[in-house]
Amino acid sequence: MPRPVNGDRPPDQEVREAMTDMLAAMDEWGPEKVVCVSDQRTGMRGVLVIDNTARGMGKGGTRMSATLTVEEVARLARTMTWKWAAVDLFHGGAKAGILGDPSAPDKEDVLRAFARALANEVPSEYVFGLDMGLTESDAAIFVDELRDRGAAVGLPRALGGVPYDQLGVTGFGVAEAADAAAQTVGLALKDSRVAIQGFGAVGQAAAERLVELGATIVATSTAAGAVHDAGGIDIARLAALRTEFGDDCVREYGGVQPADAALRVDCDILVPAAREDVIDDAIAAATTARLVVEGANLPTNPSSRAVLHKRGLALVPDFIANCGGIIAAAHSMDARYSAIPVDPDTIFTMISAKVRANVPTVLGESAARDITPHEAATGLAHARVRTAMELRGQRPADVTEVRL
Ligand SMILES: NC(=O)c1ccc[n+]([C@@H]2O[C@H](COP(=O)([O-])OP(=O)(O)OC[C@H]3O[C@@H](n4cnc5c(N)ncnc54)[C@H](O)[C@@H]3O)[C@@H](O)[C@H]2O)c1
Repeated sequence: MPRPVNGDRPPDQEVREAMTDMLAAMDEWGPEKVVCVSDQRTGMRGVLVIDNTARGMGKGGTRMSATLTVEEVARLARTMTWKWAAVDLFHGGAKAGILGDPSAPDKEDVLRAFARALANEVPSEYVFGLDMGLTESDAAIFVDELRDRGAAVGLPRALGGVPYDQLGVTGFGVAEAADAAAQTVGLALKDSRVAIQGFGAVGQAAAERLVELGATIVATSTAAGAVHDAGGIDIARLAALRTEFGDDCVREYGGVQPADAALRVDCDILVPAAREDVIDDAIAAATTARLVVEGANLPTNPSSRAVLHKRGLALVPDFIANCGGIIAAAHSMDARYSAIPVDPDTIFTMISAKVRANVPTVLGESAARDITPHEAATGLAHARVRTAMELRGQRPADVTEVRL
């Protein structure tokens, strides 16, 4: 039985319209495959999007959100295609998502239902990973449900995985990107004032590394609110509060403000590290930052990027700044069936080297050709994927504009 659908239209019409939209969204790069799944008993609804596998098996995290859409997952899968190519590692783009509240008490049942529903695709065509709303213990549930150690990456260390959110690999890379970009534009990171939207896995690790590098974190936020202190937030204290109270750490810290305040404070470097589409034209026009480093996926859009570029602000694109997670994921993919765990130092060393090489290349190309950093970085990734498609005989038409 199909589940009840909203609105006055008959259910089959709504399904038909949704299918048409998905087909219309397919372009010369992908997606190659979109698998929507549901389970009546648990109410689970989710989707897997495999975007482009010309350079290797599709790989990208799995997210859980109460507002998830197929389009959102498809956009994120596309970003993964460019991200793997930009960092020059041999996987393709993919992403999966579950529509639901990650703090609901029946989360485990929903995760198990999602894993079972994708048993045909996992792990031969897709391997679960971590993204917003999922943690290392959720990766362990996927592995358990499919009785396959190779079904997920991002497992806790105690199960032989590389716990990259616990290690903070993505946030570490975001901070390294901020340092490399600051050097490129002639800004001293030491004593720079940084605002970070999102104090989750990425935001916290970025904050900790930025503090190590000498920066001052003047604002940060969770969905529960923002904290702002021009003299510098005590990141160690906020991190301890996050361990105990989760998103409510900002309330416990004191002086909580509305959640979007972190995007509007006076700062030198702005790091959106919460979710997509948060920097619109108005914020791009008003920010006092000289540098924006995208910790989250897709926090800007083409219009706000143009505003930032016109104002002369440097922007480090998501797939350049937050590639720490995928570098760790690449190591974890290799180690899934191995008895020997990956050494975290190998991962941190590769992240630092890749990010510090890519950032000046992309910002230099952007300045030299008067194009946005996204256009510069995408051009590089685009050329690599196109070459792979041509070598495999897939021969895409000449594409002049690349969608992100
Ligand atoms: N975890 C990774 O390795 C990784 C890698 C690459 C990209 N990303 C991207 O980084 C972003 C954050 O991921 P994460 O793993 O840190 O997620 P997370 O769930 O650990 O943390 C997200 C943080 O953002 C906050 N937040 C959510 N909505 C907000 C709002 N409206 N205003 C202010 N704060 C808000 C949450 O409260 C939380 O503090 C996502 O866009 C994700 O796709 C994550």
